[in-house]
Amino acid sequence: MTVLPIILVAASLVLAQAPTDPPSNQTGRLPALGWNTWNAYGCNINESKVLAAANQFVSLGLKNAGYEYINIDDCWSVISGRDSSGRIVPDPTKFPNGISGVASQVHALGLKIGIYSDAGTNTCAGFPGSLGHEVTDATTFASWGIDYLKYDNCNVPNNWTDSSSPPGGDWYNSNSAIRYRQMAAALAHISHPIQLDICIWGLADVWTWGARVGHSWRMLGDASPTWSYIMNIIKVNVAHLDAVDFFGHNDMDMMEIGNGDLSIQEERTHFAAWAFFKSPILLGTDLSQLTSEEIGIITNKELLAFSQDTIIGTPAMPFIAFPGAPTTSPPEYYAGASSKGIHVFIINTSSSTASKNFALSNVPGLGTSGNFKIHDMWSSSDLSGIFSANSSFTVDVQAHDTVAYLITRA
Ligand SMILES: *[C@@H]1O[C@H](CO)[C@@H](O)[C@H](O)[C@H]1NC(C)=O
Ligand SMILES: *[C@@H]1O[C@H](CO)[C@@H](O)[C@H](O)[C@H]1NC(C)=O
Ligand SMILES: *[C@@H]1O[C@H](CO)[C@@H](O)[C@H](O)[C@H]1NC(C)=O
Ligand SMILES: *[C@@H]1O[C@H](CO)[C@@H](O)[C@H](O)[C@H]1NC(C)=O
Ligand SMILES: *[C@@H]1O[C@H](CO)[C@@H](O)[C@H](O)[C@H]1NC(C)=O
Repeated sequence: MTVLPIILVAASLVLAQAPTDPPSNQTGRLPALGWNTWNAYGCNINESKVLAAANQFVSLGLKNAGYEYINIDDCWSVISGRDSSGRIVPDPTKFPNGISGVASQVHALGLKIGIYSDAGTNTCAGFPGSLGHEVTDATTFASWGIDYLKYDNCNVPNNWTDSSSPPGGDWYNSNSAIRYRQMAAALAHISHPIQLDICIWGLADVWTWGARVGHSWRMLGDASPTWSYIMNIIKVNVAHLDAVDFFGHNDMDMMEIGNGDLSIQEERTHFAAWAFFKSPILLGTDLSQLTSEEIGIITNKELLAFSQDTIIGTPAMPFIAFPGAPTTSPPEYYAGASSKGIHVFIINTSSSTASKNFALSNVPGLGTSGNFKIHDMWSSSDLSGIFSANSSFTVDVQAHDTVAYLITRA
């Protein structure tokens, strides 16, 4: 048995050399608000489409509502390889002014710009990846003025994967995490802060180490514009809400509002859940096609304020609505604190559920005495009446809809 010790020595050499640079604290304190090309256009992207979205951020009031990042996803570079200096080259047909030309126009609108790469040899669509080129690529992105990097997980060489639990059981020391740590180190050594999204699809227990490496981390594979995706990612996410706080956010993937055939109620639940779990909210549709009702959802001031609270960084968590309440998967009742008070969110997940109710005394943080008023965050209006701590509150929720309340002392 001489082979085993040699493997262990090799593994510990990689570990000893793996960088440990923490993510920048100049960016990513709050969940990112923005837009990304992928769900809208896939690989069929170009400068006009990116700049159209940036201009719509201004004209549709999204910039005023707090949306900031315009992010370019996969397929932006020349697929055949790097230039003679080893740099990735922007596709000159799609981006005739380069990425730096787009970046300067996005910055001129008072917005920020994101780019995409991959912790493997190639991106998911087969374009050059950054594994082994981290310093060159981080430096190139910084020279273009990039503010955000989505870093994907396709085309990973065999010797960089993890076939079992890493040494010591800490996934921070896994090959998967080290691939991301190498990019984090490269980003740490450039002067310009770049927010890092670890697009690792919920693998390698990323919620246990994501905040030591980046600012947000994907919890599952790609989103689809379906109710089943929304229910599934909420189920996955509720198991790991303890990982979420300032500078570290579970990423539930980019938004599908405007895509597929989601009902308006389902779109409200989609937006509310991403906001109350403090996921990044990156819109993913042709913004010019959104209805005024959909724009109303994505610019809802009170839900965005919960997401972007500067005093409280933790998300809403499931709670037991009344003694003996049935449990569902995903849960339907959530409560969380903001700097304005205590919030309750209720999702109607089922076509057979009865009217929703909760005992005020069961809401964490509310206290068990005194009187309260209840404010509807969607309509920005107070409900009539005063509710005592010993009362129950009942509401009819439409199929697949989510109600959102702020509860404060009367
Ligand atoms: C931000 O990071 C820098 C560099 O690591 C550190 O010196 C500084 O104390 C940090 N600031 C805060 C507010 O954590
Ligand atoms: C981008 O694509 C659209 C249609 O797909 C086209 O009208 C436009 O001219 C293109 N812009 C560039 C810079 O290629
Ligand atoms: C995988 O192989 C490459 C090429 O030999 C090497 O540079 C790299 O360090 C290896 N990765 C690990 C985790 O051993
Ligand atoms: C939830 O949606 C179903 C339809 O799927 C509806 O029958 C039910 O009344 C709704 N629940 C409430 C509390 O309104
Ligand atoms: C509920 O509390 C109010 C005072 O806040 C009190 O007058 C009332 O008797 C209480 N009701 C019950 C059922 O305990």
